[in-house]
Amino acid sequence: MNFDFSEDQLLIKQTAKEFAESEIAPSAMERDKKGEFPAILVKKLGQLGFMGMMVSPEYGGAGLDTISYVLAMIEISKVDASLGVIMSVNNSLVCYGLEKYGNEYQKDKYLRLLASGEKLGAFALSEPEAGSDATKQKTVAEKQKGYYLLNGTKNWITNGQSADYFLVMASTDKTKEHKGISTFIVEKGMPGFEHGQKEDKLGIRSSDTCSLSFTNCKIPEENLIWEEGKGFNFAMETLNGGRIGIAAQAIGIAEASLDQSIKYSKQRKAFGLPISELQAIQFKIADMAVKINAAKALTFQAAALKDVHKKYYKEAAMAKLFSSKTAVESALEAIQIHGGYGYVREYLVERFLRDAKITEIYEGTSEIQRIVISRALLGN
Ligand code: CAA
Repeated sequence: MNFDFSEDQLLIKQTAKEFAESEIAPSAMERDKKGEFPAILVKKLGQLGFMGMMVSPEYGGAGLDTISYVLAMIEISKVDASLGVIMSVNNSLVCYGLEKYGNEYQKDKYLRLLASGEKLGAFALSEPEAGSDATKQKTVAEKQKGYYLLNGTKNWITNGQSADYFLVMASTDKTKEHKGISTFIVEKGMPGFEHGQKEDKLGIRSSDTCSLSFTNCKIPEENLIWEEGKGFNFAMETLNGGRIGIAAQAIGIAEASLDQSIKYSKQRKAFGLPISELQAIQFKIADMAVKINAAKALTFQAAALKDVHKKYYKEAAMAKLFSSKTAVESALEAIQIHGGYGYVREYLVERFLRDAKITEIYEGTSEIQRIVISRALLGN
């Protein structure tokens, strides 16, 4: 495995870093406080090519590899994890799924606009009673002449209020359980489609998360992705890539925690010394750095496997499991190093902890990642 990044990959990292520091950082704390969606920044990310990074230029994307995507995701999430998840869902769950499984009509009509960042996408699998147990879809899509009639509710949908296009999983045949699930492209504003209130969340507060409801919503039959009954496979395949994106988001949070800890520990004095000279602090910093490096190794391994079209689902689950744990632990240590200052909103690190926690929950909880990993090893 090559541990050197190419010049192109390093250029992407540098571009993301500069954009994050100059354009995202100044408003991140305020947007977190107000729970304000960063609409202008999302458009700017689109102009940089960051909303459809892995989509072929033929469909308006940047045509980059997954390694570049991970590098950019880390830099953006380091400054604002809310923007990180907005970007990740559009790239990994929506654009990737559409490019891989959509037909030419769908790619031409939807993917082009999503990949260029002109439109924003959302992925709607979870339901009030189908989170980890995603096969238990209650949303139904009933086939009629020329269209499907969609009825049901989706929960915790990232980009739920702001997205233009939604990939929605629904059952087209209840008798077949997960083999009766299908995926549809639903447009904002279609009659019968409404979104709920923005959730008042612990973290990633400037990303918008809400429920969606469908009441006799007519979906044209040409908006069925892949084929009837393949919706669950579609969701699982796209989530494998999504987990690499969330692992990168988590690494960004962990790196930010480490950076702030180093900076603060050199400034803060106790017992007549900067606290960076105390072994208790030095060991915390060393442990954080080791875990972050390990998380990166796992995540780049999964990305590299994806790029050469090898099986990567187990490695993606390992990367997400370990990186999300690293993010939570690093943010906690950063707060500990900051002492009382770490516990107040004036400093950045309390946000890192609030933002980190969700990486252990969405796109498959840590418990689900362990199921994926152990099944791959045990073959059951
Ligand atoms: N990759 C590819 N295919 C997979 C897969 C994977 N990782 N995991 C399961 N599958 C396939 C199986 O091969 C099987 O396919 P066939 O029927 O064609 O043979 C099918 O899916 C069913 O698999 P299982 O029998 O293993 O299903 P299960 O019910 O026992 O377990 C699960 C599946 C792994 C627990 C799955 O339900 C799961 O991953 N749950 C978590 C759901 C999730 O991640 N939700 C995130 C919501 S989206 C989100 O958070 C986005 C956001 O807004 C940020």
